[in-house]
Amino acid sequence: MVLLLLLLGLLGLLLFLLHGRKRRQGEPPLIKGWVPFLGNTLQFGKNAHKFLEDQKRKNGDVFTVLIAGKYMTFIMDPLLYPSIIKHGRQLDFHELTERLAPLVFGYPSMKTFPGLSEQISRAYRFLQGDSLTSLTESMMGNLMLVFCQDHLDPGQGWRSGNLYEFCSSVMFEATFLTIYGRPQTGSRHQHMDQLLKDFLQFDAMFPYLSAEVPIWLLGRTKTVRQKLISHFLPQRLSCWSDKCQFIQARLELFNLYDKLRDVDKAAHHFTILWASVGNTLPATFWATFDLVAHPEALKVVRQEILDVLRASGVEFSPDRELTLSREQLDKLVFLESSIKESLRLSSASMNLRVAQEDFSLRLDAERSVAVRKGDIITLYPQSMHLDPEIYEDPQTFHFDRFVEDGREKTDFRKHGQKLKYYLMPFGSGSSKCPGRYFAVNEIKQFVCLLLLYLDLQLEDGQNRPSSDHSRAGLGIQQPSSPVLFRYRPRAE
Ligand code: HEM
Repeated sequence: MVLLLLLLGLLGLLLFLLHGRKRRQGEPPLIKGWVPFLGNTLQFGKNAHKFLEDQKRKNGDVFTVLIAGKYMTFIMDPLLYPSIIKHGRQLDFHELTERLAPLVFGYPSMKTFPGLSEQISRAYRFLQGDSLTSLTESMMGNLMLVFCQDHLDPGQGWRSGNLYEFCSSVMFEATFLTIYGRPQTGSRHQHMDQLLKDFLQFDAMFPYLSAEVPIWLLGRTKTVRQKLISHFLPQRLSCWSDKCQFIQARLELFNLYDKLRDVDKAAHHFTILWASVGNTLPATFWATFDLVAHPEALKVVRQEILDVLRASGVEFSPDRELTLSREQLDKLVFLESSIKESLRLSSASMNLRVAQEDFSLRLDAERSVAVRKGDIITLYPQSMHLDPEIYEDPQTFHFDRFVEDGREKTDFRKHGQKLKYYLMPFGSGSSKCPGRYFAVNEIKQFVCLLLLYLDLQLEDGQNRPSSDHSRAGLGIQQPSSPVLFRYRPRAE
């Protein structure tokens, strides 16, 4: 039996080497690896950034890699990003998400519902523009509610906690209330701890689901997903008040589709839960950690918040409820820079586009490469975020890296040329995150609350944890180990 398996394996390898894809004229260097189908999946999964930097050294700025059965062409020079991002017709983003999202979140393929996908995209406008003002206001109130009730006990001494759990519990519940609204009775939903636990259990399997591992191979994941989805059944959602306009618009939209079952609608609403907190929780953790770990930066940011409040006639007092409007948040340039710096260090998302036909992809005035239909053209901005030519001392947190002369700094260069895209935690072009402004605002609000109401310290010996590489390519990386901290209400 063992011999037979070995022979079959060898035969597979031989077929892969003899008949597998070969590099054609005009195509980028091809890195297939030795394992049929999987190709370089394991090396990529272990440390994607290192793997890609090694390939770049050997093969130049553009190369094709076989990963999990897919041929992915990586464009490593950020000066070439604009030509990929503006390539609309021949490079498509939606095909990928429309195939993957139903597998991950458990709703039926959108192909059977004409116009649904376009209408869903159209509703993203309710995360921006005028709607952002009410979202931001509502988030402020909900953050105050959760934070004060759970963590602000005047007169209490130092309390210890796990920083990731602290950030997650407050942000998860406040975001949930802001997006889906509050229950019929009371101001907070019951069993939020359990909902967060279930969410984190599902989220831990997200990398496998995105890699198209069948859900029945992933233990209890399907049961947990069903449980999560059941929270969003239309009859439950309709009882909650103060839903944001975005969810209201989606409820009305789904009602237009008779063939969408209640459980399908609920699965769509669950997708938004993942989108709204899946990256925001780790991003909030890093933004908080980096400031607490750098007291000199924390001091500048805290003073900036007090100054912005003072400029609008508000003297902060811990006895009064803090409100920060969208306009006030926009003025916090050092806080914004600090959050961007934490995003730069923690983000590892991929920007993917599928080639719709065989064609010659123009990279710049001199260069183009041949790509095949179905190949995935990939930007991996983490390589840019950690490039020492663009960001001096790239592994170190510099809270004011994105400020120049008291304003936002936008001039970052490669080979002496100004980069159009230099920070991309939120994706690019047609797949850019529609929740990005809300995300930055809510992280700012959270940090403001913490800095104004609490004294914060890391417990002894707590260094910046390394990132958990299992989420490489999927967004903000999570810390690979816990960070312990202590906090107490801030003395005036
Ligand atoms: C720091 C926090 C966040 C980060 C880093 C982030 C990042 C991203 C990225 C990289 C994408 C594109 C994915 C791709 O190219 O496949 C995306 C898509 C998306 N994000 Fe965010 N996001 C954040 C927060 C939010 C929030 C708070 C919301 C909503 C309230 C949100 C809603 C969405 C939605 C709906 C999409 C899908 C867009 C589409 O299919 O066209 N995100 N996000």
